[in-house]
Amino acid sequence: MRVLLFGAGGQVGWELQRSLAPLGELMALDRHGSPSGSGAYGNLCGDLTYLSGLAETVQKVRPDVIVNAAAHTAVDKAESEGELAHTLNALAPGVLAQEAAKLGALLVHYSTDYVFDGSGTQPWREDDATGPLSVYGQTKLDGERLVQAACPRHLIFRTSWVYAARGGNFAKTMLRLGQERERLSVIDDQFGAPTGADLLADVTAHAIRQVLLRAQDAGLYHLVASGETTWNGYAKYVLRQSQSISPAINIKAKEVAAVATSAFPTPARRPHNSRLDTTRLQATFGLKLPDWRLGVTRMLTEIL
Ligand SMILES: NC(=O)c1ccc[n+]([C@@H]2O[C@H](COP(=O)([O-])OP(=O)(O)OC[C@H]3O[C@@H](n4cnc5c(N)ncnc54)[C@H](OP(=O)(O)O)[C@@H]3O)[C@@H](O)[C@H]2O)c1
Repeated sequence: MRVLLFGAGGQVGWELQRSLAPLGELMALDRHGSPSGSGAYGNLCGDLTYLSGLAETVQKVRPDVIVNAAAHTAVDKAESEGELAHTLNALAPGVLAQEAAKLGALLVHYSTDYVFDGSGTQPWREDDATGPLSVYGQTKLDGERLVQAACPRHLIFRTSWVYAARGGNFAKTMLRLGQERERLSVIDDQFGAPTGADLLADVTAHAIRQVLLRAQDAGLYHLVASGETTWNGYAKYVLRQSQSISPAINIKAKEVAAVATSAFPTPARRPHNSRLDTTRLQATFGLKLPDWRLGVTRMLTEIL
């Protein structure tokens, strides 16, 4: 089996390089092409802004599975870079879907809780009405639709609050600020589940194998760690765990004050309710998604 991965250097892409490797021949591309060389394929394009290059790359590699982990993920910047965000998050996955369909390949793509308007308190299900509040959310929703329309053989995973041991993330920022300041203020009116890139990558590999055997399991799924918290609860957990994992570090922050989203105005509006219902994924693939604290503790143990 041949797998073509886009966005190999991102949080999820990096973990996918690990989890997809045992599936067969893996060609991993970042925006500059293949860091390890394209071998017999000649020049390959991993830049999602170069749509004709993407199509040529898929036709050269002729993969059985395409996994797209690349995206415009800078949510606030996307407000002023609408065209670029639309190209990366909507047009590029659309092109990958068209090319996958021509080959009969499976396309795996990632989307976000930001496709919802964040109202209410119930976890969102896959078929609930969408209503993005931001350019990022709208472009990701457009991407979902283009993938669904062009390539019935797809897996789209909507996820939230992604972190990884590699690269920057909220937990690492809190850890740094917690050592610098005595008091932190963190939002407590947005609810969701921090989800590890490693969990996303492992579930992706499992789901690919199953869909290759059971085509009817293709489709749209919510994929997040179990449980829920707020950014404030997440920050407190990170500081407490870090101190207990590594007594040598000096967490100065004695207080993590709870503040409303309105205390930190940002260009992009964010949903208050980012809870995602994962019943469909757990039932279809026979998986149990672990509590978010497990993955966060593991990531902290790795970085400390
Ligand atoms: N991060 C989250 O909290 C979150 C939440 C919900 C859903 N998601 C979704 O999950 C997926 C993976 O996100 P992530 O957290 O792994 O994001 P990430 O760490 O920001 O990775 C995104 C990757 O896209 C690449 N990229 C940007 N512009 C590109 C271009 N023109 N051509 C090719 N690659 C380009 C980036 O490359 P450079 O490093 O070179 O810029 C980066 O490697 C995305 O679909 C995202 O929308 C993420």
